[in-house]
Amino acid sequence: MAAKKITPATVRADFNDPAAVIHYARAAHFMGLWASERVLIGRYFTDLTAPLLEAGCGAGRATLGLWDAGYKNLTAFDFAAELIDQARSLATTRGAAAIRFLHADATKLPPEICHLMDDKPRISSFKSTTDNCHPLDDKRFGGALFLFNGLMQIPRRARRRAALRHIHRVCALGAPLLITTHDREQNQVERALWRLEALRWERGEQDPRLLEFGDRYFDEAGVGRTFMHLPDRAEILADFASTGWTHTFDALRKTIAPEARAVRDFSDECRFWVAHRGP
Ligand SMILES: C[S@@+](CC[C@H](N)C(=O)[O-])C[C@H]1O[C@@H](n2cnc3c(N)ncnc32)[C@H](O)[C@@H]1O
Repeated sequence: MAAKKITPATVRADFNDPAAVIHYARAAHFMGLWASERVLIGRYFTDLTAPLLEAGCGAGRATLGLWDAGYKNLTAFDFAAELIDQARSLATTRGAAAIRFLHADATKLPPEICHLMDDKPRISSFKSTTDNCHPLDDKRFGGALFLFNGLMQIPRRARRRAALRHIHRVCALGAPLLITTHDREQNQVERALWRLEALRWERGEQDPRLLEFGDRYFDEAGVGRTFMHLPDRAEILADFASTGWTHTFDALRKTIAPEARAVRDFSDECRFWVAHRGP
């Protein structure tokens, strides 16, 4: 029987799996923002009062970190309901119940999400709507984040671009966007491994569940199954350009700030990207 291709439903189920929920809830409780995230958030998200949108917030690791750093106008969403439940419950126990946590999919983000910044009523779950409806300018987000490779866990480039377009639509002109990716070209070993993988793709011998070159699907003890697309630099630059984002900065994490052992164990080296919302 042919192996089933990875779909968004596969990824959502993997994040709702108890192993993943425990892993991300533990990070939300005990880790908070990484040193590198703090540096870049401080540098590019300079207005503490701006309404910020965090995509793929998981159990709230970065969301609660942002709250503690003084950003109090926060809307955060994730398409894994179990993780959003964890995030809400942690926010309540930490006195941060004012954070708006939503169950939503970045590739189908409705423009009405902006109206939540107005306050009540607080809608907790969304269905997709038409694409030709634009939020009013004064109700757009002043910045967005999709941290710890969340964008790269969306299977298929067309869907990742759809997510970038949806986030673009709900952000104000000039708003910063911060994302991370795992770098396919970060060292000689990676480059050699990916050359071998390219040969497998040429011969049609790649993991049949994968969709595009650069994809990985792996099992990790204590985390569960993970889908991840590893892009090269040109791919991200093209994706920003085609979705209305102007590239501003990118660098490997180790060049931004040294990280604690717990962070390095939680996440391998990654590349941070900052873009600003163009017209
Ligand atoms: C690696 S986890 C990071 C979680 C959290 N940001 C953190 O740093 O601990 C990536 C998150 O992105 C979410 N995600 C992936 N695709 C998504 C989508 N299409 N819409 C919303 N969330 C998504 C996953 O459910 C998961 O919680």
